[in-house]
Amino acid sequence: MAIELVVNGKKANVASSPDTPLLYVLRGELGLSGPKFGCGLEQCGACSVLSDEGARRTCVKPVSEFEGQNITTVEGLPELWAKDDARRHTDLHPVQQAWIEEQVPQCGYCQNGMMITAVNLLAANPDPSVSEIMTAFSTSGPSAHLCRCGTYDKIIKAVQRAAELMA
Ligand code: FES
Ligand code: FES
Repeated sequence: MAIELVVNGKKANVASSPDTPLLYVLRGELGLSGPKFGCGLEQCGACSVLSDEGARRTCVKPVSEFEGQNITTVEGLPELWAKDDARRHTDLHPVQQAWIEEQVPQCGYCQNGMMITAVNLLAANPDPSVSEIMTAFSTSGPSAHLCRCGTYDKIIKAVQRAAELMA
């Protein structure tokens, strides 16, 4: 039986079996290559998306767990921002704009998850302190976000810049 998802504001009927990890469906079936396969163990954050429950990792959780939820990938962030604040719609979500201004990515592989976490953090806390940002992007613990290139200092600056752009 097909599973119906809502991804980046559009309905998608998924042919993959219900126990397929959502990441494989997004990348392999729906052609959304923003979310990345990093560890495949819910430990690095590279595969993150936004769902109705906030930022979620998708490399292990089956697609059936996301049925009926609104899922936003990094590709859908501009539309999410347009929906949240139509008066100030730009071609990029402010988090994406800040990431460019602060030149955060090096290899870029982890940055999908970093931007998704930034959007999630700023939705809950529009003016986070440095320590709150560091906690959100912790390199250890249950919500670890791993960047092998070590871009964490720039991530802090970019989250602060995004908060300014969204104020
Ligand atoms: S690939 Fe999903 S958390 Fe690492
Ligand atoms: S930018 Fe290379 S892993 Fe983070």
